[in-house]
Amino acid sequence: MLDEFKASIAKQLSELSGVATDVILPAIDVPKVNTHGDLALAVPRLRLKGNPAQFAKDWAESYQADTFVTGAVATGPYLNFRINREMFTRKVLSAVYKEGTKYGFNSSGEGKHVVVEFSSPNIAKPFHAGHLRSTIIGNFIVNLYRANGWKATSMNYLGDWGKQYGLLAVGFSKFGSEEELVADPIQHLFKVYVAISAAAKEDPAIDDEARAYFKKMEDGDQETLALWKRFRDLSIARYKETYLRLGLQFDVYSGESQVTEGMHRAMQMLKDFGLLEESDGAQIIDLEKHKKHLGKAVVQKKDGTTLYLTRDIGAAIERFETYNFDKIIYVVSSQQDLHLKQLFKTLELLKLDYVDRFEHINYGLVKGMSTRKGTVVFLDDMLHESTENMHAVMRENEAKYAQVPDPEGTAATLGLSAIVVQDMSARRIKDYDFNWDRILSFEGTTGPYLQYAHARLCSMERRAAVKVNPDADITLLTEPAAQELVDLVSRYPDLLATTMQQLEPCSIVQYLFKLSHAVSVAWESLWVHNQPTEIAEARLLMYWSARTVLGNGLTLIGLTPVERM
Ligand code: ARG
Repeated sequence: MLDEFKASIAKQLSELSGVATDVILPAIDVPKVNTHGDLALAVPRLRLKGNPAQFAKDWAESYQADTFVTGAVATGPYLNFRINREMFTRKVLSAVYKEGTKYGFNSSGEGKHVVVEFSSPNIAKPFHAGHLRSTIIGNFIVNLYRANGWKATSMNYLGDWGKQYGLLAVGFSKFGSEEELVADPIQHLFKVYVAISAAAKEDPAIDDEARAYFKKMEDGDQETLALWKRFRDLSIARYKETYLRLGLQFDVYSGESQVTEGMHRAMQMLKDFGLLEESDGAQIIDLEKHKKHLGKAVVQKKDGTTLYLTRDIGAAIERFETYNFDKIIYVVSSQQDLHLKQLFKTLELLKLDYVDRFEHINYGLVKGMSTRKGTVVFLDDMLHESTENMHAVMRENEAKYAQVPDPEGTAATLGLSAIVVQDMSARRIKDYDFNWDRILSFEGTTGPYLQYAHARLCSMERRAAVKVNPDADITLLTEPAAQELVDLVSRYPDLLATTMQQLEPCSIVQYLFKLSHAVSVAWESLWVHNQPTEIAEARLLMYWSARTVLGNGLTLIGLTPVERM
C-alpha cells in the first residue's frame, strides 16, 4: 500500500543525492513506532562515504513536500517522512472496498502449482492431535498459497498400508463386527486394532499371521485386497464427514497403498545408483555415509515387503510425474523430522533434479490432550465438546441467542474457532499444552474473541442509520485511533506476502488480535450512532473495512466468520 509513497521518496532523494532509486528503495522502511514518521530511511544503509547524519540533515533541508509526503525531517542518521494521510487513507479504504473478500491477495504465484500434503491419518489408528495440527496448518497453507496467486492441490496421504493392516485384518476376523463396522468404521477399526494389538502381545503367532497377510496384500491377492478396500472406503467416507465439519475438502485422497509403479522404479534406481546394501536379508540405504545423523534406513524387509520410507520415495517420484509441481509441502509433525530428512536425502542421491522443490513444514506436540473425563480424544469428540461449551455460553444471553439464525451451526463454528486459534497462537514448532479452560473462554486471545469482534462489527453495520459509502469523506478520519486502524488495515496485503516465507499461522493470528484490539479502542470514542451523516459515513467505511479484513483473515486460517453470536 505504501509502494507509491516509497517510490516518490526514492525518486526525489535520488535527485538530491545522486544515489540510484533501486538502492534507496529497499532502505526505506515502516518504523516500528511511528512517533517520528510513517516512513524512514536509514542513511547508513546507502553505504556512502561521509557522515550519514550530515547527509540526512542536508537532504531534509532541500526536500520538497509533494502530494505523497509532507516533507522530511532528519533525526540522527535517519530521515523521517510523514505521508499524506488523506491520500493514504483514501487508497487503503478504496482498495478494501473494491477488492472485498479478495483484499490482500496478490498474483505473485501466478502460473505456479503447489501440492500440499497434510492431515494424512492412519486408518484404524486414532486421528490424534498431531493429525489435527497437520490438518489445521495444512489447510492454512493451501489458503495462503492461493491468496498469493498459486494453484494449490490439497492432498491427503492416508496411512492405509503396511503390516499394521495385516494385523487389522487378522483382528477383524477375530473381533470384528460387520454391523459396527458400517455404523462407525473409524471407531470400530480402532477398537479391533486395540484388541488385536493386545492379543498379539500375548501370542506371537498373531504377528506372523499379520505379516503373512500383508505379504499377500503386497502380492496382489484379490480377497485380502477386497477387504482392505472396504476398510479404506468406509474410513474415507467417515473422514470426509469430519473434514466437512472442519470446513475443508481434499482435492486428492492418496495414501501409502496407492503408490505402486513409482516404488518399484525407486527400488531399481536405488540399486542402479549402488545405494542398496544388504543387512540380515533386508535391503538398507546407509545415509549416514552421505550426511551425519541420518543413520541407516531399511527400504525392504527380509520377506520382500516395503516400508513407510520406501513408499514415500515412490510417492515422491509419482507425485512429481503427476503434478509437475513447482513446490510440494509435507505438513508433518516434528517427530518425523528424521524420516523426511532421510526421504529428501534419498531423492537427492537419486539425482532427481527437482528435489529442491520439496519442503517439510513441521510442528510440535500437543500435550495433555485428553477429554475432561480422561482417555484419548477423537477429533469428533473434541469438536463436539468444544461446540457444546460454546453453545452453553451463547445461551447465557437469552435475548441475543434468540436472534442467532442458526445457533447449532454458529456454536460449531465457534467451537472450531477456539480449537484452531489456540493451535495457531504460537510458532508451529512449539509444543503446547492443550487447555480446555482457554477453549471455554470467550475472552483474551481466543478464537471466539476474534469471532466476537467480527460479529460486533456486523451488528454495528446492521444498526447504522447510514449505508457503507465508498465516497464517504475520509478526511474526517483524523483521530489517532482511526489512523491506527487504517494503518493496520493497510498492512494486511504485505502480511500475506511475507507470511509465505515462514508459513507461520501465528503471524496472521497475532495480526488479527491487533486489529480486533484497534477496533475496540476506536470504538470507545469513534461512534457511528447518533453522529452527523458525514462523520457516520466515514467511520462506517472504516469499520466496514476493518470487518472485511478481519473476515478475510479468519477465512484464511480456515474459519467461517460469524455475523451474529
Ligand atoms: N500417516 C503418517 C502418520 O500418521 C503421516 C504421513 C506423513 N506424510 C508422509 N508423506 N510421510 O504418522
